[in-house]
Amino acid sequence: MATVDTGVETMDPSGSGDGEDGVRRRDFIHIAAVSFAGAGAVATVFPLVNQMNPSADVLALASTEVDISAIEPGQAIKTSWRKQPVFIRNLTEAEIADANSVSVDELRDPESLADRTSDGKENWLITLGVCTHLGCVPLGAAQGEVKGEYGGYFCPCHGSHYDTAARIRKGPAPTNLEVPEHEFLTDTVVKIG
Ligand code: FES
Repeated sequence: MATVDTGVETMDPSGSGDGEDGVRRRDFIHIAAVSFAGAGAVATVFPLVNQMNPSADVLALASTEVDISAIEPGQAIKTSWRKQPVFIRNLTEAEIADANSVSVDELRDPESLADRTSDGKENWLITLGVCTHLGCVPLGAAQGEVKGEYGGYFCPCHGSHYDTAARIRKGPAPTNLEVPEHEFLTDTVVKIG
């Protein structure tokens, strides 16, 4: 039988979209989907990689230098390092003797004052001002603040008492106040971090 060109395009009765136009359409949809997937992968990976690069302000805070020349024995200051509070305390002879009179083995977190200070600088106690229980800032660094039953620091959040070496002595905190890495650049300047 002869066929007649009606000038009208017919649909593929199978509905599969086969035929030159159908194939092209499928290819376009496939390529478009792959392109979007690729863009999505890049968009997902970039923030992760970006998060792993320390920002400029974090790098700038990697260490901090503090002038401690004005801190008299018995006084402390609060400073900050990596956005955390830091206590720098100039211990009196009595506070040093108090810390050294404790039997280290009986402590919850056994450390001597010497373990927690630099050689020849036993009077300079430098710790994070972050309670090791749940992270409150303990009292005792500023003038007139309560120092707790052991004369060091007191965390009022749940009642943790730290001694003159900032070691946990009573209350729920599991460990001593953390001593950050630090180094004396001179007798009056200390670098933290
Ligand atoms: S956070 Fe300091 S005692 Fe709980």
